[in-house]
Amino acid sequence: MPSKSSPVRTVVFPVAGRGTRFLPATKASPKEMLPIVDKPLIQYAAEEALQAGATQLVFVTGSSKRAIEDHFDSSPELEAALEAQGKDELLRSVRGIVPSSATCIYIRQPAPLGLGHAVLCARPGVGDQPFFVHLADDLIDAKVSCLKQMASVHAEFGGSVLGVQTVERSETDKYGIVATEKVNERVSRVTQMVEKPKPAVAPSTLAVVGRYLLSATVFDKLAKVGRGAGGEIQLTDGIAALLGEEDVFAYAFEGKRYDCGNKLGYLEATVEYGLKHPELGPAFVDVLARLLADRLRPS
Ligand code: UTP
Repeated sequence: MPSKSSPVRTVVFPVAGRGTRFLPATKASPKEMLPIVDKPLIQYAAEEALQAGATQLVFVTGSSKRAIEDHFDSSPELEAALEAQGKDELLRSVRGIVPSSATCIYIRQPAPLGLGHAVLCARPGVGDQPFFVHLADDLIDAKVSCLKQMASVHAEFGGSVLGVQTVERSETDKYGIVATEKVNERVSRVTQMVEKPKPAVAPSTLAVVGRYLLSATVFDKLAKVGRGAGGEIQLTDGIAALLGEEDVFAYAFEGKRYDCGNKLGYLEATVEYGLKHPELGPAFVDVLARLLADRLRPS
């Protein structure tokens, strides 16, 4: 099938939120640095984007930005120490987290005015080509990386593409919700998009969950939308303003999503990734089984 678009090379990681649900852990460090087993969420995010073909990584950082920059920077002292101790595997794990062929750009969001504002701050690093937006606290475990799946949809249909998932109706007020017309089994055309609608008035239960492939036109829209739900500049409002002018598709991705922005989702991801971990997995199964047996034993 001929491609309707050129490959997407830039990904934006908004990492400037306050992360209040994880305080005090997020007091001095962004929530995207929380680890799942042995890698921070932002590293899973970078790996997903690199697998999707991104070569330019734009981080929109906030007041506690150093940890993320340091994580993706080389660390000569640490590397020399590991080398001297012959810890080759650990050395490999800290070297080349991002390949030298990729570029990291850091842009400061002066104040956490909302996700839409954070994305608008990334504009100088993106230019006028379509780009990914990845929210690292939505961790998606998939055979083919979620952004890669979305890049394929973009190549076939063009336009913007939103990663979506069906949620409980009682949960619609936590998400951007879309109304759609079916195109095929997984792809539908977005006809309406609302931020955090109350369950009674939500146009559907199809929620956008932290993966976007957006046309750069969204920057002009975001510059105009003003404050929306919760007094924040909402990405949803910028995307809603595209509707009617450009194609916006919803894509029901393949994979399991963990909402690591809340503690229960974070714990679930930690347990599942621990169980699947190539070295720790078998021992962790035993630990969990023992803990659960103790817990569930009738007293
Ligand atoms: P959330 O809605 O999860 O908000 O942001 P938050 O501030 O990070 O966390 P809570 O709700 O206080 O616990 C979704 C994504 O948008 C980024 C966050 O870093 C997160 O990746 N974000 C949000 C920004 O970069 N800037 C903002 O102004 C708001």
